[in-house]
Amino acid sequence: MTASGLFYLHGKTAIVTGATGLLGRQHCLALAEAGADVVLADLSLEDCKAVEATLPGNNHLSLVLDVTSPDSLLAARSAILKHTGQIDILVNNAAVNDRFEHPALAAEQSKFEYYPLDMWNKSLAVNVTGVFLAAQILGTPMAERGAGSIINIASTYGMVGPDQSIYQKPGAEQVFFKSPAYPATKGAVLNFTRYLAAYWGHRNVRVNALSPGGVENGQEDWFIDNYSRRTALGRMARPDDYKGALLFLASDASAYMTGANLVVDGGWTAM
Ligand SMILES: NC(=O)c1ccc[n+]([C@@H]2O[C@H](COP(=O)([O-])OP(=O)(O)OC[C@H]3O[C@@H](n4cnc5c(N)ncnc54)[C@H](O)[C@@H]3O)[C@@H](O)[C@H]2O)c1
Repeated sequence: MTASGLFYLHGKTAIVTGATGLLGRQHCLALAEAGADVVLADLSLEDCKAVEATLPGNNHLSLVLDVTSPDSLLAARSAILKHTGQIDILVNNAAVNDRFEHPALAAEQSKFEYYPLDMWNKSLAVNVTGVFLAAQILGTPMAERGAGSIINIASTYGMVGPDQSIYQKPGAEQVFFKSPAYPATKGAVLNFTRYLAAYWGHRNVRVNALSPGGVENGQEDWFIDNYSRRTALGRMARPDDYKGALLFLASDASAYMTGANLVVDGGWTAM
C-alpha cells in the first residue's frame, strides 16, 4: 500500500459519539474526508443532521445516542448494521466537563473540599461508563468480525494533575478550580484502553487513546495566555489540530499499534 493509501477509509463505517461538539464535528470531518461513511451520534438528532450536512460524501447516518444507556446503544447498533452492514471504527469522544451555573460561585463550588457528589457521578457515568458501554455494544461486532479500531478520547488531564494556577486571573483571585472528576475519568479511560487492547488484540480489534490538550474556543485572553505559557509550542490547540492523529489511529497507518496513548498537547506534558 502506498504511504498516502494507508490513511484511506473508503468502504469503512466510523461512529463518532458526541459528534456535534467542538471536537466531535472535526473528527467526523476528518473521517469523511478520508472516505469513511460516518455515523454521527449525539444527544440531539437535529444537531447531528446539521453537522452531517457539512460533510463530504453521501452515505452518512445521524443518530440520537445516549452513551450511558445500554438500550440507546443497542438501538444505535441495529440502525448502523442495517445502514452499512458493519462497524469498522468507533471514536469514543462524548464526555462532560464541569460547568458551574453561576460563575460567581464557581470558585467556591469547584473546590475539592465541597465538590458535589452528583457532578462526580455524572462525569463517571458519561466519561467512563459511557466509554465502557459503547465499546462493549458497538465493539463486539468488530471482535466477532475480526477487525476494527476503537479510539478513546482522553486528555492531558488523564496523565497529569491540573495546574490550578492557570485558572487564576493575573493578580486576582482564583476564578475556579479544575474539578477532581474530569482527571479521574480520563485516567480511567487510559487504563480501560490498555485493558481492552490486551483483551481484543487476538481478535484484531485495536484500541488506542488520543490525548488532546486544551482547545482555544472563545476563552478570555488571560486564560489563553496562562494556558499557552504552559505549552512548549506557546499556544492552545486549534479545533482541527487533532484530525491527523485521529486518522492515523483510525486507519491502517497505525496497523501495528494498540493499547497506546497518542499525546497531542503542544508539549504540555513534556514540561
Ligand atoms: N476541548 C478541549 O479542550 C479538550 C481537551 C482535551 C480533551 N478533550 C476531550 O475531547 C472530547 C470532546 O470534547 P469537546 O471539547 O468537543 O466537548 P463538547 O462539550 O464540545 O462536546 C461533547 C459532546 O458530547 C455530547 N454528550 C454529552 N453527554 C453525552 C451522552 N450521555 N451521550 C452522548 N453524547 C453525549 C454532548 O452533547 C456534546 O456534543 C471529550 O472527550 C473531551 O474530554 C477536549
